[in-house]
Amino acid sequence: MWYHGNLIHVEDSAAAVGGGDVSCNLNGVQLSGLAVSKKTADFLSFDGSVGVYAGERLGRGIVTDAVTTPVVNTSAYFFKKTSELFDFKYGRYGNPTTVVAEEKISALEGAESTLLMASGMCASIVMFMALVPAGGHIVATTVCYRKSRIFIETVLPKMGIEATIIDPADVDALEHALDKNEVTLFFTESPTNPLLRCVDIELVSKLCHSKGTLVCVDGTFATPLNQKALALGADIVLHSATKYITGHNDALGGCISGSEKLISTVRTLHNILGGALNPNAAYLIIRGMKTLHLRVQQQNTTALRMAKLLEGHPKVTQVYCPGLVSHPEHYVAKQQMTGFGGVDSFEIDGDLMKTAKFIDALKIPCIAPSFGGSVKTGTALPNMGCAWEEAVAVEAAEVNMKMEFNEPLVGVDDPKTIGALLVAATETEDAPKENPVDGDAELNVETAKARLPSAGEAESLNSQPGSDTM
Ligand SMILES: Cc1ncc(COP(=O)(O)O)c(C=O)c1O
Repeated sequence: MWYHGNLIHVEDSAAAVGGGDVSCNLNGVQLSGLAVSKKTADFLSFDGSVGVYAGERLGRGIVTDAVTTPVVNTSAYFFKKTSELFDFKYGRYGNPTTVVAEEKISALEGAESTLLMASGMCASIVMFMALVPAGGHIVATTVCYRKSRIFIETVLPKMGIEATIIDPADVDALEHALDKNEVTLFFTESPTNPLLRCVDIELVSKLCHSKGTLVCVDGTFATPLNQKALALGADIVLHSATKYITGHNDALGGCISGSEKLISTVRTLHNILGGALNPNAAYLIIRGMKTLHLRVQQQNTTALRMAKLLEGHPKVTQVYCPGLVSHPEHYVAKQQMTGFGGVDSFEIDGDLMKTAKFIDALKIPCIAPSFGGSVKTGTALPNMGCAWEEAVAVEAAEVNMKMEFNEPLVGVDDPKTIGALLVAATETEDAPKENPVDGDAELNVETAKARLPSAGEAESLNSQPGSDTM
């Protein structure tokens, strides 16, 4: 059998993530609480090396000398006789390329097991359906990815599953819900999309576990590098791998990581429902993960700089970034994250049309509804697409989110230029007739750069990658 169910294979290929203590590595990345075998090679105590090597040449069972992990494009596997029944028998149950990506994510999250699926939504839906019984009760938070909220509010009730929705910081409401109901699962993002609210993972995990409730943290905005949800006490960590993990806006994917027992329960249902990750997407995830630590470090630094820049700008009324002291859960973010991620959210002084003009005037960032991609900085106006739907307006108002809300998503491009263009766009009164193209963007970069305040500070920050991370 060429696939070993364990994680990092070194020396005699029996080494695996599965027990032992590790604290913090030289890079300040959290490892405390991660279960890493004593046999694990020293260089794999650094997240960057884990991202590059884990799951691949250190024990990969694929018979090939290729340096990169091959894409196994097959829907089925043959066996010579029944006693040699192949692990995967059929493509919906697994794929050797996908297993490598799963092992990498497990190694970074300190998980016994990871299941990769076709998208982040697929991962959360299959997880809910596998772990929450019909007629059960869950707790979720007011602020979260809109489609997750829609699923919780409209589809789960069809299975008799009720949800109590609480503010991410309202621990009393969580306690009350746990006392009043038999809660199977507490599901929360941290940081949340798009207000970047943070949940005290250690605290809520202790509370939930005292009542036998599982905790699932959607850590998409945090990445597996900035936050180790399992080490903090969560039972499952979920990611939309479409974002930072893949990192190049070229593949969809979603994953859940946790104990072998929990993940295999979800895997059993996943094997029935389908939603298998395409092996080509698995390849792109493996490739993306080799630069995850570099991208995230750069994106952490740039996004915090942009948040500080925007916070000091007279035309910006509100900035949401967990790295800012003004953020309501800054103290929580500081204690459980090593960096705050690459997304800032902010409101400019003006109405929806003014905000639309601002976005249209941004020259370099592309207008796109996704984040975590490294190639380009982008921006999204989460409420714009549905600004005319009354239900969305009410929903946004419930969580104090203005319709004029912006969500710039920084890439690994030059932070000084991004800052200059953000500032320049706030001063634009008239939107251009059509979306800018790259060549067009260069026209005003120099003018915009000249307007950037605190250029000296920017210079020194730029020479110290990671200095804005905690
Ligand atoms: C926090 C969060 N979780 C889950 C998802 C869903 O992921 P996907 O788009 O890969 O289905 C998203 C998508 O934006 C998200 O922002």
